[in-house]
Amino acid sequence: MSNALVTEKKLSNFINGEWVSAQQDHFAPVVNPANGEKLIDVPLSSQEDVNQAVEAAKKAQKEWALVPAPQRAEVLYRVGYIMKERKEHLSQILTMENGKVIEEARGEVQEGIDMAFYMAGEGRRLFGHTTPAELKDKFAMSQRAPVGVVGIITPWNFPIAIATWKSFPAIVAGNAVIWKPATETPMMAYEMAKIFVEAGLPNGVVNVVFGSGSEVGDAMVEHSDIRVISFTGSNETGRTIAGKCGQLLKKVSLEMGGKNAVIVMDDANLDLAVQGIIWSAYGTSGQRCTACSRVIVHESVKEQLEERLLAEIDHLTIGDGLDEQNKVGPIINEAGLRKIEKYVQIGQEEGARLLAGGNALNEGDLNKGYYFAPTLFTDVKPDMRIAKEEIFGPVLSIIPVKDLDEAIEVNNDVAFGLSSSIFTQDINKVFKAQRDLDTGIVYVNAGTTGAEIHLPFGGTKGTGNGHRDSGQAALDVFTEWKAVYVDFSGKLQRAQIDVE
Ligand code: UN1
Repeated sequence: MSNALVTEKKLSNFINGEWVSAQQDHFAPVVNPANGEKLIDVPLSSQEDVNQAVEAAKKAQKEWALVPAPQRAEVLYRVGYIMKERKEHLSQILTMENGKVIEEARGEVQEGIDMAFYMAGEGRRLFGHTTPAELKDKFAMSQRAPVGVVGIITPWNFPIAIATWKSFPAIVAGNAVIWKPATETPMMAYEMAKIFVEAGLPNGVVNVVFGSGSEVGDAMVEHSDIRVISFTGSNETGRTIAGKCGQLLKKVSLEMGGKNAVIVMDDANLDLAVQGIIWSAYGTSGQRCTACSRVIVHESVKEQLEERLLAEIDHLTIGDGLDEQNKVGPIINEAGLRKIEKYVQIGQEEGARLLAGGNALNEGDLNKGYYFAPTLFTDVKPDMRIAKEEIFGPVLSIIPVKDLDEAIEVNNDVAFGLSSSIFTQDINKVFKAQRDLDTGIVYVNAGTTGAEIHLPFGGTKGTGNGHRDSGQAALDVFTEWKAVYVDFSGKLQRAQIDVE
């Protein structure tokens, strides 16, 4: 039915406002993970394509930086309105290329719309500071300046939302962007490029270069005229990028996943906790950086919680995300499926008890796609690999604890620090937990997913390198601070020396 939505056969790069064929004639198929059908071919570009995009971006950026920020913002308002008009169209294509169920796809597109309006508002803020100077007849201020040409590398799991978190602040701040989308989900970039044109973004301000991390990503990281790299993806790739950027003294912002936990205390509203856990563990088939993959539960309510979770898992309908009935869609590809299988095996070998799922699903139509049953392990020990490593699939581990102190300790004793949550009715536990949970995002009486775009998104430890996407914090990634001193005394005044 919906293949009609994908009208092209092959994608081209988007450089200087035009669709440009990549230099080499290499393509990869983009496959709908729900049914294995090929949607389109995506070019595998090379360093020359990146160079071409950077030349266009450099030229465009010089002029774009001189456009008053409120006018730059007007383009983003128009982007937001077009996305809003086209929400259903974008959502359906998103479901086809990524697999997430249509309700979630709509939610993701909405996240992009919200980001457009939020960052457009920044066109009339982009606040700097004025501050007293230490000498007479002297004025001092700091302001945000664009960095220049910036590189954004975005993942397949949130191909439109994360692209907006990175590109919109870059645009409103007066930068030009080179964007490498994930090769699994290039259609969102194609659709966004068309929207940028319609919204009146000048040519060259956003350029899309499709291709692999090892060629296009690498070329971006190494290009001396790309001054910032903002990356969301795997820990391994992020570390490699950070190493290279470190050598090149290039600013780099990384967001690399989590091992997020929901804590359930003995006084929790269990019905609510179950809903929050199911949604954040099995929604998006667990393929969110923020997905819940551990439940740290007070031992006195463990059995009750297990029973209720199992009942809910039974009701999860699995299949093609375009069918509104389905609550859980496919895994992105075969490799993702195999990785999840491997972790289930590891969990069993480690002695965790499998309560539900644990296998790929092949019955009927599911056979054509990449589906994995919602999986629940219990009696998991905090030091097991399934309790420590990111699986990126619908696999949840229940870890029993004695009290809140132990729960916080278990939560914090992993290499990541993105999101955490606590279900309790006790205000004292709430405030203690929000203070002591070592994650960038903390939820109270909600699951671990659902971050809003006007707050900073990111985490501690192995989740990142201290930067944040979205919110005001995103502006810090895409701007330089410039301190400006204006001496109107008409004489040489020496700071720190000529003070009275
Ligand atoms: C991600 O998984 O990388 O908070 C992003 C959430 C979404 C964004 C997830 N708003 O779950």
